[in-house]
Amino acid sequence: MTARLIKGAEVAKEIREELKVAVQRLREAHGVAPGLVTVLVGSNPASESYVRAKQQAAHDLGFYSVQDNQPDSISEDQLLALIDRYNRDERIHGILVQLPLPKHVNETKILYAIDPDKDVDAFHPVNVGKLVIGQADYLPCTPAGIQELIVRSGVETAGAEVVVIGRSNIVGKPIANMLLQKAKGANATVTVCHTRTKDIAAHARRADILIVAAGTAEYVKGDMIKPGAVVVDVGVNEVGRTAEGKRILKGDVAFNEALEVAGAITPVPGGVGPMTITMLMKNTVRACNVHLRGKGV
Ligand code: GUN
Repeated sequence: MTARLIKGAEVAKEIREELKVAVQRLREAHGVAPGLVTVLVGSNPASESYVRAKQQAAHDLGFYSVQDNQPDSISEDQLLALIDRYNRDERIHGILVQLPLPKHVNETKILYAIDPDKDVDAFHPVNVGKLVIGQADYLPCTPAGIQELIVRSGVETAGAEVVVIGRSNIVGKPIANMLLQKAKGANATVTVCHTRTKDIAAHARRADILIVAAGTAEYVKGDMIKPGAVVVDVGVNEVGRTAEGKRILKGDVAFNEALEVAGAITPVPGGVGPMTITMLMKNTVRACNVHLRGKGV
């Protein structure tokens, strides 16, 4: 049997159509468009490409969007002043500072300076804490995308054995916390594996839902997957270039092997990736609503 493909690109398109309606409603009812600023420091090509995609998505949805490019030489104080300006800017509801930042800038200090109500990445400790206690206003974009994919594919999470491989602050820790909440699309029994876990394969083989954010191309082989399991591959690894110079991407799961064993799997590319930016757009629409609520609307 071949696994069903969970097509993130299609689900993302569906959600963006829903968001267009929400944006239209905000315009008609309140004369306001969700406002997103993306701050890019320096000229890392990967960061430039991510930020371009975020701006394009914001533009396509009819947001008020600002791209703020700053030179590598910007000081920490200047960057803090810039964030303070956007914190006070009424037209801006969401602030995203693209990571990584140059070495002379303290990333933590910058992320802590963003108003939690405008923190559409959900990296601020206030938002991380709210997530853990089940009171999140914003969910971090990649984990939110993973949960949406699972739920919209009709996969039952309540009582499911979920195994997460990877304990990063951006993916592993938040998705584990989200899926163990007493909530719809959660209520799972969650195990988190990492570099010091004794027998990752044994844990992985128990999983009804296996979420892989290991950061190593084809880390999970077919024999690490329980027959019929749902496999979510968060990895994006560039393993080479085509003759035309196009990037060749592989996930953290050996896809062809997994296809023969799993019940369903997200492909790379076209799985989790397209969901991440879509969830950023969803958070920005939410931030606009938070702003209106704050004004008593
Ligand atoms: N760099 C890589 N991923 C991300 C992300 O999700 N948000 C931000 N701000 N920077 C990133």
